[in-house]
Amino acid sequence: MSCRTVVFISGRGSNLKALLANQRHFSVECVLSNREDAAGLMFADAQGIPTFTAPRDAFNSVREQKSALYKKTEELQPDLILLAGYMQIIDADFIHQYENRILNIHPSLLPAFPGLEPHRKAIESGAQDHGCTVHLVTPEVDSGPLLAQMSCEIRQEETEESLASRVLELEHQLYPWVVNAIAGKELIYHADGRLESSDALKKEATERKITIAP
Ligand code: GRF
Repeated sequence: MSCRTVVFISGRGSNLKALLANQRHFSVECVLSNREDAAGLMFADAQGIPTFTAPRDAFNSVREQKSALYKKTEELQPDLILLAGYMQIIDADFIHQYENRILNIHPSLLPAFPGLEPHRKAIESGAQDHGCTVHLVTPEVDSGPLLAQMSCEIRQEETEESLASRVLELEHQLYPWVVNAIAGKELIYHADGRLESSDALKKEATERKITIAP
C-alpha cells in the first residue's frame, strides 16, 4: 500500500511541485498552508489534489490557526508530513505526536547554517561547498536527525541568487528521492537513531551524488 503524505507549504511551492511529479511509493493526499496566497497551491489544484488553508487573519489567535491545521492533518491520518518551505514554527506537542514522521528540506548542509539566509551565510563563511539536507523534524528548528544531502561547489564570483538557484535544483532531486526511499522502506530511521539503508539504495545514492547520513 502506498505511503500517504500531506505537504505543508507557505510560498512558491517548487519543492511541492517536485514531490507531486515523483509520487512513486507515496501519494500526496492534501496540501496545507498557513497562507491563502501561497503560489504553490496552484500545483495541487492543477492535479486535483485537495488543499486546506488556515490563514492567520481568519482566526482569533495563532493558537487557533495552528490548531486548525493540526486538526485537519489528524483527520487525514497521514503516514508522513512533508514540510516544503513551511514558514511557521510547528508546536512540540504536534511534532511529538508524529515523531520521526515529519520531514523537512533545508537549503544548507546541516548542521551548517540552520535558520534564515543560509546561502548568504555560506558565501560569507568562505566555505567551499554548500547544498541541501532532508532531515527529520524535532522541536528545535533545522536540528533533527539528518537523512540525506546533496552538495555543490561555491564558485568564484558566486552570488546568493546564483547559489540559491543551483541548490534549489538539487532540492528538487533530493526531496522526492528521500521520500520515495522512506516510503518504499529502503531507508529506515530506527528509534535508537540508526539509519538503515538497502544496498540497492546506497548504490543509487552514489550514482545520483546523494549522501545518505551516516
Ligand atoms: C526551499 O529552499 C526549502 O529548502 C526551504 O524553503 C524553500 C522553499 O521553496 N525550506 P519552495 O517553496 O519549495 O519553492
